[in-house]
Amino acid sequence: MSLHVENRRFTMLDLQRATTAGEKWAVITAYDAITAGIFEQAGIPAILVGDSAAMVMHGHNSTIPITVDEMVPMVQGVVRGTQRAVVIADLPFGSYQQSPSQALESAVRFMKDGGAQAVKLEGGAAVLPQVEALASAGVPVVGHLGLTPQSVNLLGGYRVQGRGESGEMVLRDAKALEAAGATAIVLEVVPAELAARVSEVLSIPTIGIGAGPDTDAQVIVWQDLLGLTPDPAPRFVKRYANLREVMGEAVRAWVTDVQSGAYPAPEHEYR
Ligand code: KIV
Repeated sequence: MSLHVENRRFTMLDLQRATTAGEKWAVITAYDAITAGIFEQAGIPAILVGDSAAMVMHGHNSTIPITVDEMVPMVQGVVRGTQRAVVIADLPFGSYQQSPSQALESAVRFMKDGGAQAVKLEGGAAVLPQVEALASAGVPVVGHLGLTPQSVNLLGGYRVQGRGESGEMVLRDAKALEAAGATAIVLEVVPAELAARVSEVLSIPTIGIGAGPDTDAQVIVWQDLLGLTPDPAPRFVKRYANLREVMGEAVRAWVTDVQSGAYPAPEHEYR
């Protein structure tokens, strides 16, 4: 398995090699040291500090409000909590659209202050100059096409993208991102058949979320995977645990013990 690299962090190049070797890999989000460490121990080679933090950590109803200043400490925590995983920092809305130099400035914050090894940004043709500038400055860039949540106001909601004719644009954008120097591309909530076509045509890895089984890798928001976010989950989410129930029950049991005096017991006391 080409992803068995000893004694150092993985790189985007390792992930590319794994894809070339026909190996599938998994990416998960994390926003703090403890969860990132657990995910790495579970075999995750790449962690995305997603701007989904705006929703799952800060309680907003979109990813739009979060800022670089708010995300840098999350990236720092994830880097401190891991030794092997490549840490990808998501450039939040408003931190790269203005110009290639703005994109570079934001990426530099995430890499120098945060310790990230790569960044991700959303969009196709409109962000090619940004991708070129980042790549030529030595920054591994992950693109993001299909449902791009930072454009939710333009898209009119969180719905499937790239059906019918518009799929050709996703394909064109994917090729253009690769040519501009992107090291991988996230394909979010697009028809499985389109994701398969894009994955077939590109040399760089595709990372799917709601994009069917034929992308080179899969990514998921951890609170969705482990059942912390409330139902209903999007169709593409498979719950591998029900942490909402586990945590709720545990805290209810503690509250009951505190109220009855059963906690703390003698073994929890200092003498
Ligand atoms: O912000 C995020 O978590 C993401 C993934 C859903 C791909 O962009």
